[in-house]
Amino acid sequence: MSTSASVGISDLSFATTHYALDHAVLAERLGVDRDKFYIGIGQERMSVAAADEDIVTIAAAAAKPIIDRHGVDGIRTVLFATETGVDQSKAAALYLHSLIGLPNAARVVELKQACYGGTAGLQFAAGLIARDPSHKVLVIAADIAKYEIDTPGEPTQGAAAVAMLVTADPSIIALDPQSGLYSADIMDFWRPNYRTEAIVDGKTSVNAYQKAAEEAWNDYRRQGGRDLGDFAAFCYHQPFTKMAYKAHKHLLESQGRTAEPEAIEAAIGKTTTYNRTVGNSYTASLYLGLLALLDQAEDLTDKVLAFVSYGSGAVAEFFSGTVVSGYTEHLRTEANRAAIDSRELLDYDHYRQLHEAQAPVDGKYHATVSETSRPYRLAAISGHKRIYESV
Ligand code: CAA
Repeated sequence: MSTSASVGISDLSFATTHYALDHAVLAERLGVDRDKFYIGIGQERMSVAAADEDIVTIAAAAAKPIIDRHGVDGIRTVLFATETGVDQSKAAALYLHSLIGLPNAARVVELKQACYGGTAGLQFAAGLIARDPSHKVLVIAADIAKYEIDTPGEPTQGAAAVAMLVTADPSIIALDPQSGLYSADIMDFWRPNYRTEAIVDGKTSVNAYQKAAEEAWNDYRRQGGRDLGDFAAFCYHQPFTKMAYKAHKHLLESQGRTAEPEAIEAAIGKTTTYNRTVGNSYTASLYLGLLALLDQAEDLTDKVLAFVSYGSGAVAEFFSGTVVSGYTEHLRTEANRAAIDSRELLDYDHYRQLHEAQAPVDGKYHATVSETSRPYRLAAISGHKRIYESV
């Protein structure tokens, strides 16, 4: 298969919240064995937004290093994928203009289809660049996953943003033109406009994910995609890391292959290390898996990676790409680890207080409690406007 179109990812940057909650704290509260979380769902910690953080502040923190390194020349499109938007009308990326200096000569939109939105952004970007290879697209995936207290979904919360610079002649991943698609009307996970917490049918969602991944793979093959044996690693959407293991086993077995635990670990183990401690970051999750792989694997030059994107409701896409020679020079491994390691651990009461806080709706001036140590914060909500500032 040719990668001559040579469109893909030239930079990848990640940010997460100021706080994290250890799953041992949650296990104690819920009266369950902590290994149900550490081993059973494969989650050890989850990022939790401070009172003055939201998807805009973590997105700005993720995107700024890309602007610092590359400037804004050629960025004529900004695609912001999220399912935890802060406004029903205004695209979240527009707040970034004043925070990180996005160019005014750009189209800027928000994309929504549950956890699939980041992949939609990446593929739309590839299309724009195929039309005009001088065009660069900043794709940002940012989410804060929130479920109701004391529900099975609660341990699968989390938060992160991943920003990607998509260009011609990419420096990190050259995308294959083929991709496999699947969409269907399924009520496995959704969030009506009047709710801040998602509603989920957990078991249905796990089965829907696996079926959608299999169907997307079948379509990828029909489109002339590569063989299963061609891939050095598989990056899955990871609502919880065990889900990637389940989905990969399902995919292998659906193709008549044996799914030995060692082979599954070799194919996806390294992609799970950041998600295991960040939790579900919805649109960003798959790309956090890619970051973790790139940061830890031995030399991946010229290796082919598979990407399995799933967004409840549901849309799935199976696509692939080749790691570009010299990619390690473009990674941000130290900064990625620092973002994770520098989080402040919460006790249960503080976590609960943050979880229960509601945004004011009266239009009056409300200053936000100063908590985050990250570079951007939500300073206030006033006149129904969100006011951001640099820290
Ligand atoms: N030690 C080790 N393992 C243990 C254990 C212990 N002490 N106790 C339980 N376990 C294991 C169980 O055996 C089980 O393993 P298997 O799945 O391999 O059988 C695992 O821990 C989980 O246990 P339960 O199935 O009893 O867990 P649960 O029902 O309480 O919750 C869940 C699981 C339904 C996935 C829940 O976390 C949930 O609803 N999460 C939100 C929905 C979700 O993430 N769905 C994923 C697909 S949808 C998607 O991908 C989009 C998205 O981002 C939301």
